[in-house]
Amino acid sequence: MVGGLLLVVTLLALAAGHGVVVAFDPNPLQDFCVYDTTSKVRVNGLPCKDPAAVVADDFFFSGVDAPGRGTASLRYGFTALSVQIPGLNTLGASHARVDVAPGGVFPPHYHPRASETAVVLEGSVYFGFVTSYPDNRLLARVLRRGDVFAVPQGLVHFLYNNGSEPAALYASLSSQNPGLVLVGDALFAAPLPGDLLAKTLLTDEGTVHKIRANFRRP
Ligand SMILES: *[C@@H]1O[C@H](CO)[C@@H](O)[C@H](O)[C@H]1NC(C)=O
Repeated sequence: MVGGLLLVVTLLALAAGHGVVVAFDPNPLQDFCVYDTTSKVRVNGLPCKDPAAVVADDFFFSGVDAPGRGTASLRYGFTALSVQIPGLNTLGASHARVDVAPGGVFPPHYHPRASETAVVLEGSVYFGFVTSYPDNRLLARVLRRGDVFAVPQGLVHFLYNNGSEPAALYASLSSQNPGLVLVGDALFAAPLPGDLLAKTLLTDEGTVHKIRANFRRP
């Protein structure tokens, strides 16, 4: 009897994540959960609308073939269009179209919660990522229309359109909320002490202040 109880307790502890390898998002408990933007309820994801009211358009988005929509970063020369599909709510995926002007970059950044796969729709980009410390290997290559590149979760990666034509990519991420950390902004847009940054970057405070001035919001 006591042995049986111990076994149950041990299994529960294992199920709670102690010693269990979980290499993927938790499974959804329903076919879908089309988000209801009017609900005031907050859950992990957005609350679901009545399944009976779900229509095909809840799983639809149009216009990813068109450049220039979405949010532009003039500083870096890219535009990112988030593909809004209500039916993907809770399903562990998100998508974006990214346009990079000639000479533009999507600067070194990482997504804390997602791996990424990107297909080049047009143009050519230099695309790569850096492995974690202490190797810091650069795995990068030139991609052209029709090429696909994958970036492991949490690793710093970048896009550089060093060609003369506009480039566009369609990126798929393995989280509803991948998160975005721009490495340059994390270091220079945050109010970290100048002497700390100088020591971090193996340089002097004057250089740090000079770089930081470029990161001030207009
Ligand atoms: C872009 O940069 C990469 C890496 O340095 C290089 O291999 C490639 O030839 C460059 N492309 C152009 C169009 O200059």
